[in-house]
Amino acid sequence: MEMKKLLSIFFLLSTILCLFTGNASAGGVFNVLSYGAKADGKTENSKAFLDTWKAACNATGYAKFVVPGGTYLLGPVRFTGPCRNVRTMAVQVQGLLKATTNLKSYPSDTWVLFGWVDNLILTGGGTFDGQGALAWPFNECPKKKHCKILPTNIKFVNTNNTVVNGITSLNSKMFHMAVLHCNNFQARNLKIIAPANSPNTDGIHIERNSGVSITQSHIGTGDDCVSIGQSNSDVFLANIKCGPGHGISIGSLGRYKNEGDVRNLVVKDCTLTGTDNGVRIKSWENSPSVSNVVNMTFDNIIMNRVENPIIIDQTYCPYHKCDTSAPSRVRIRDVSFKNIRGTSMSPVAVLLDCSRGVPCQNVKMQDVNLRYVGGQAGVQVSSATCNNVKAAYSGKQVPPPCQ
Ligand SMILES: *[C@@H]1O[C@H](CO)[C@@H](O)[C@H](O)[C@H]1NC(C)=O
Ligand SMILES: *[C@@H]1O[C@H](CO)[C@@H](O)[C@H](O)[C@H]1NC(C)=O
Ligand SMILES: *[C@@H]1O[C@H](CO)[C@@H](O)[C@H](O)[C@H]1NC(C)=O
Repeated sequence: MEMKKLLSIFFLLSTILCLFTGNASAGGVFNVLSYGAKADGKTENSKAFLDTWKAACNATGYAKFVVPGGTYLLGPVRFTGPCRNVRTMAVQVQGLLKATTNLKSYPSDTWVLFGWVDNLILTGGGTFDGQGALAWPFNECPKKKHCKILPTNIKFVNTNNTVVNGITSLNSKMFHMAVLHCNNFQARNLKIIAPANSPNTDGIHIERNSGVSITQSHIGTGDDCVSIGQSNSDVFLANIKCGPGHGISIGSLGRYKNEGDVRNLVVKDCTLTGTDNGVRIKSWENSPSVSNVVNMTFDNIIMNRVENPIIIDQTYCPYHKCDTSAPSRVRIRDVSFKNIRGTSMSPVAVLLDCSRGVPCQNVKMQDVNLRYVGGQAGVQVSSATCNNVKAAYSGKQVPPPCQ
């Protein structure tokens, strides 16, 4: 208690000191307009933005990078650290950023990257518009396994302690956001929007992280609202409205060698509307390595006219043909579906299709009520299909349990 008091007095004093001595080198505000940015929607601003970042990253203490209101045309930019003396990097985007549309000007698959920074805060209510409509016709990934990956709107790479609050991502060329190799990443009040038929415009893809929380957000795109790739632990998704899109997915997993485990995931208080899937775990057959999916809880989820509300798919194959010569080696265990209700557009409202090589272990279904409404005759009987799994059931069960 004493120590806490002392510390808070110390922080108060140092904040006051900062306010009085505040100049550019000792923290401060770095406004893109002061570094030559033009909010005219026509001038390409990447140099001005990068110069602003360089100055902010060179500051000491609290650095604030500001993009005021207005429309800024922006090519690919990499905001990278380490920013050795910055304690907090607050990036405030109030304006509308519009991505340049010439795909040849993108050296990598990223439009805006934040990487190797600690204590990053991205806020401001602004919008990242990927202007994807012009790129979507060039995306061959839905058809071809080896395809060019188009730019992601916003990527976070190797960051510790990140907060993203109140940002909109619109019409990305491909994925909207990717969170890669981060510790303690928190996002809330996001809007992520693209048309239902835009290819691979996943909302947020997360991979190789520990501690990710995404809450209070609306995601409607042409692919997964959130996809949780390999090697993630302690992931919390809550109060997400998803749709249109492909739902909330773990995977796809088991495609590449040496993938890491996915552990400790909670998805709760979410609503999915008009999506292809609700909550899904998907893995490829003939996986080159063994990996584990452990401790997943899906709780209090409403499905509105969802095609496949609950689905474990261990024979995942998005192409015409996949290698099915060996079963999936992704081992799924300790998964619980609780209080999941609403309507299914397909008769099989619950599909648990586990690997014939490594059956799912300890799958629990508690209070599931999913009515089939996709047929001609209004509400009809829904059913469940189970392969290589013996689920434990409690509470209400519509569809009735697998035999
Ligand atoms: C970084 O800060 C130092 C001292 O605070 C200053 O002399 C130098 O010009 C700054 N560099 C940039 C790129 O802003
Ligand atoms: C993030 O934290 C890890 C583990 O504590 C550390 O090794 C790494 O250097 C940190 N990253 C940055 C950008 O500081
Ligand atoms: C399962 O995951 C939850 C949520 O992340 C966590 O609180 C709990 O400790 C985990 N259980 C085990 C046995 O690791």
